[in-house]
Amino acid sequence: MTKENHNSLQETSSWRLLAEHQRQVAGLSLRESFAQDPGRAQRFSLGLERVFVDFSKNLITDKTLSLLLELAEQRGLRKAIDDLFSGQEVNTTERRPALHTLLRAPENKGETVILRQLWKERNRMFGLVSRLRAGQVKGASGKPISRVVNIGIGGSDLGPRLVVEALSEYHQDGIDIDFVANIDPFDIERVLAHADPETTLFIIASKSFSTQETLANARRAQSWLNEHGCSDSGKHFLAVSANADAVERFGIGKDRYFKIEDWTGGRYSIWSCIGMSGAISIGEDNFRRFLAGAHTVDLHFRSAQFSRNIPVILALLGIWYNNFFDVGAHAVIPYDQRLERLPAYLSQLVMESNGKSVRTDGNKVGTNTSQVIWGGVGSNSQHAVFQFLHQGTRMSSIDFLLPLASRYNSEQHELLVANCLAQGEALMQGETNTDEPHRHFDGNRPITTILYDRLDPYTLGMLLALYEHKTYVEAAIWGINPFDQWGVELGKTLAGCIAGELASAEAHPSHDASTEQLMNKYRSTQLTTTSRSK
Ligand code: F6P
Repeated sequence: MTKENHNSLQETSSWRLLAEHQRQVAGLSLRESFAQDPGRAQRFSLGLERVFVDFSKNLITDKTLSLLLELAEQRGLRKAIDDLFSGQEVNTTERRPALHTLLRAPENKGETVILRQLWKERNRMFGLVSRLRAGQVKGASGKPISRVVNIGIGGSDLGPRLVVEALSEYHQDGIDIDFVANIDPFDIERVLAHADPETTLFIIASKSFSTQETLANARRAQSWLNEHGCSDSGKHFLAVSANADAVERFGIGKDRYFKIEDWTGGRYSIWSCIGMSGAISIGEDNFRRFLAGAHTVDLHFRSAQFSRNIPVILALLGIWYNNFFDVGAHAVIPYDQRLERLPAYLSQLVMESNGKSVRTDGNKVGTNTSQVIWGGVGSNSQHAVFQFLHQGTRMSSIDFLLPLASRYNSEQHELLVANCLAQGEALMQGETNTDEPHRHFDGNRPITTILYDRLDPYTLGMLLALYEHKTYVEAAIWGINPFDQWGVELGKTLAGCIAGELASAEAHPSHDASTEQLMNKYRSTQLTTTSRSK
């Protein structure tokens, strides 16, 4: 295989061949492919320890895979992977590496300065976890802390929240955990309403420590403590951030500050001290198992040949549908109630990473990039959105995730398994009905089924790392930077500006007519509310 260095993705020979090949495969019947090829299921499946991936229900042939693998070679994927792990500046616009894989490296390997610093901070976090659990962390009145509220948004919320919820079976009693993310005051007031100011600790999780929502909620937490006569509100706060100065300005002391490195991307930060509330919930040993699961996938991703490399194959399938079938949506359907938050977590991971239009060299990408990631748990989704998957005019590629074992009612778990497998078969096979067209199912819906033994910390770590590396591979093929998020800045700036204008009594029209109209509607409501309350 030759490595080509074309600037344009579409000029790559494998890309052109894939476009031609797509026209042949578009007419492929998966049902017939399975009937004619008894080895198909096994050949198009991969396993890694407790995780098994069956991608045989995808619109692919051996030739598709070999062309996609050739594309990976031609786009320099091997070098891209080496660059990620060796700490090159893969985040080109912010001139930083993306070293989240270091955060889960075991402590006995490679004693570099940076690793020693990371472990020191992580061990400080685990020290706090065990003191909290032992009732040694006390509030201002001397009572032990029994509730932790994580205040953060985006990656500083979705990751820890997913860990706490997905691993609720591993939750160690004694400390209740809540999350506040939204600027909508309902979010924090809902939590404060059942919290005790004497025994509540707020973790302010923000890499930048400048996020409007997080700071507004942190200030509200502070005022709530004051309203309840707290004599030393500092005892009720911890901060996790890369911005030590801003933490200090907020009034959180050095001993209550946990550092993350500036190369820790928000959506890749669950492995750092941003995962603190998760670590508090499941304890040190389980959190270490979570990191170990991700590390196993790192080793696999770095060393497995591309044809046996799960994140590489998942990413190439994503490219196949997105760029060659124009499938703009990818559904993540966990048949696992505990993973209810996984689609939201992956939406940020994939769409904030790869929702980009320019390449690292500043040129337009020229192809579609991130798919829309959506989903919900099975079997609930079957009664809500599966109609669209079975008979809609738009195709969505699909991942099903399914645990093989459950600690609960095995009969009911078996029904869950049956539903997942039945939906996979139905979506793939379809059913012909010429008499009643409304009962006709085209089938041929592409499904990847990810089985795992059971959802434990290690497996969750594996699953998240698989999706992280899938995202990285797609970005490498498109030639985009998955580690920045400049697209969120414009709205943030305007929100700050509009907030200032809404707060002032005078209108200074400087917006488009629609926005002005909406602002005036809001202002007049405020006037009415104020005059009513007088
Ligand atoms: O606005 C987007 C974003 O920067 C995400 O990338 C990030 O996860 C989130 O906001 C929160 O940022 P921070 O941790 O700096 O508060």
